[in-house]
Amino acid sequence: MGHATPRMSGGRNCFVDLPPEIVYDFVKIMFREAKMKSFRTVMREYRFQGDSITDDLKEKYRYEGDLGRLYAEHDGPLIQKWHHYLPVYEKYLSRYRGTGFRFLEIGVSGGGSLHLWRHYFGDDATIMGIDINPDCQALDGQSGMVRIGSQDDEAFLNRVVEEMGGVDVILDDGSHRMEHVSKSLQVLFPKLSTPGLYLVEDLHTAYWPKYGGGLDAPTNFFNIVKPLADDMHAWLHEGPAKVPGIGNAITGIHLYDSMLILEKDEVHPPAHSRIRGG
Ligand SMILES: C[S@@+](CC[C@H](N)C(=O)[O-])C[C@H]1O[C@@H](n2cnc3c(N)ncnc32)[C@H](O)[C@@H]1O
Repeated sequence: MGHATPRMSGGRNCFVDLPPEIVYDFVKIMFREAKMKSFRTVMREYRFQGDSITDDLKEKYRYEGDLGRLYAEHDGPLIQKWHHYLPVYEKYLSRYRGTGFRFLEIGVSGGGSLHLWRHYFGDDATIMGIDINPDCQALDGQSGMVRIGSQDDEAFLNRVVEEMGGVDVILDDGSHRMEHVSKSLQVLFPKLSTPGLYLVEDLHTAYWPKYGGGLDAPTNFFNIVKPLADDMHAWLHEGPAKVPGIGNAITGIHLYDSMLILEKDEVHPPAHSRIRGG
């Protein structure tokens, strides 16, 4: 057929009979993927090699908070966290310690984080973990409640929040797949109390096609930040709401390396004043 026909080393032709535009797309994707780091590469490249997590947190982030200490001293089921998450969590979550607030974590795995959260938040907190893996059911009642279902199942999420009697803080550490992260946000954010906090971690997956993302992919979860910012500033332009049900209840959007934190609260029109002394 006269199409471009790259050859494999064994001499077998792998693209014969493929239309040139498909070959071109394939090569383009290969190049794009080559620029993406895989999960394994990243974990290998950035695995902490030092002796003391506590020292690392102190030296790099000037952070010596309780959550970091509890993490470093953790003596329970496997838990893994990027170190830079810890000061960020402390900054936003310390206000809930010792209170009877309601916390929902998507992604239970071996129960390590639920264990840590229970130690950090105290006995009065309602802690609920959800996971798609039925094995996690065995962890129910240890550090908190555990329910089995998928983070993109609206009916399941509704049941969970109802059982909790509402929810004040949500942390998405589940599949990290773009469509799941989006669906959970879409279903759960409107259910969050006011004030409330919605945190998503491990968003480096937004850059990985394997998770439905990609550097410039329209599905990259970070693409939601601009429309949310537009809705938060709705007072100042005449455009339509871009993320209905979410954007009009947001008072803060915080972006950290691989983390997005959304603050939900009562939204007021901005008030501006002028004060002159004398
Ligand atoms: C990163 S692990 C959670 C780790 C845990 N938060 C910790 O720090 O110890 C991710 C978990 O998400 C769960 N998961 C994957 N897809 C899911 C889905 N669609 N809905 C709910 N959980 C899911 C996996 O079974 C896995 O246990």
